[in-house]
Amino acid sequence: MFQSDLLRNKNILITGGGTGLGKGMAQRFLELGASLHICGRRQEVLEQAVLELSPKGKIQAHPCDVRDLARVEEMIATIWADAPLDILVNNAAGNFLARTEELSPGAFNAVLGIVLTGTINITLACGRRWLQASNPHQKKVVLNIAATYWHTGSAYVAPSATAKAGVVALTRSLAVEWGNRGIRMNAIAPGPVPTEGAFSRVLPLPELEKVALEKNPLGRFGTVEELANLAAFLVSDYSGYINGEVVTMDGGEWLQGAGEFGSLGRMLSDADWQALKPKKKN
Ligand code: HXC
Ligand code: NAP
Repeated sequence: MFQSDLLRNKNILITGGGTGLGKGMAQRFLELGASLHICGRRQEVLEQAVLELSPKGKIQAHPCDVRDLARVEEMIATIWADAPLDILVNNAAGNFLARTEELSPGAFNAVLGIVLTGTINITLACGRRWLQASNPHQKKVVLNIAATYWHTGSAYVAPSATAKAGVVALTRSLAVEWGNRGIRMNAIAPGPVPTEGAFSRVLPLPELEKVALEKNPLGRFGTVEELANLAAFLVSDYSGYINGEVVTMDGGEWLQGAGEFGSLGRMLSDADWQALKPKKKN
């Protein structure tokens, strides 16, 4: 579907790019001709990703906790000294299932810090540099990875839902504030896509995976490749008029939950549906 040079000459940073969806996007963007930077906390994980992906193109790793503003500034300065970024993907996240009333302040803040403060830290470090160029015709892009519950909220992942709602608010605020200076801001709201990091924390039991599959209209989870291809489009110049948008990628899962009668397909048998039909008059 894509030209093999779709992202040629694009210099991209993906936070949390050493694992899961971040690594999948890194691979796809390299295949499409981009130069990549990835960051995360664990150096060995980043090194392994670089080892695997470097045959596909130029990729550099930066150990960095996105909550640590001084370290973020240092990383962004290092990247800029090599070449300015064109595209930022805020993908790093922390999450776990818990009853909210049992969370310590540290637990709530850990997730808010990674997802929301981390996104703010990196976005501002890049945005301030882009704005200095004072070029309304530049084509810079920020893509934030949210989750479908950014607008519904979700029980048992309240810190993540709170933070993702904030990330979308930031996306839409800056889409307007920075759009006239050549910076587009968009987000993807994925439903469940199997990754070690996510599924070990939010669908840790086989029964939970089964329930998630059953309630999805398409009857399956999303794939890393589907997410990476959508992201490739949204960071490319072909989506140049899309700004401030949140694209949901969940097989229709959240709508199924939102509609009053969405679960009937799983609950009623053929016989039940037949019984609901009006009786024929003689
Ligand atoms: C309650 C917990 C907890 C848990 C940690 N804490 N795990 N509390 N239940 N399961 C508490 C700790 O006790 C501590 O509290 C505080 O959180 C910080 O924990 P640390 O171990 O110091 O780790 P830290 O590095 O600060 O935080 C990391 C983390 C961890 C968020 C807790 O899960 C992580 O490293 N995650 C990274 C990757 C990840 O989460 N990927 C999933 C993304 S999936 P105190 O009080 O001692 O300070 C996703 C969407 C999925 O986001 C949607 C699917 C549909
Ligand atoms: P993942 O593999 O756990 O990815 C999270 C990444 O963030 C890891 O590489 C992790 O690396 C990095 N990270 C965590 N804390 C960090 C910090 N403080 N500083 C820098 N990097 C940090 O999970 P994933 O499934 O790929 O998730 C990727 C994104 O998709 C997240 O935004 C998540 O909320 C979103 N999402 C995923 C799903 C899904 O079903 N997979 C659904 C909806 C939304 P380190 O631990 O080495 O730091």
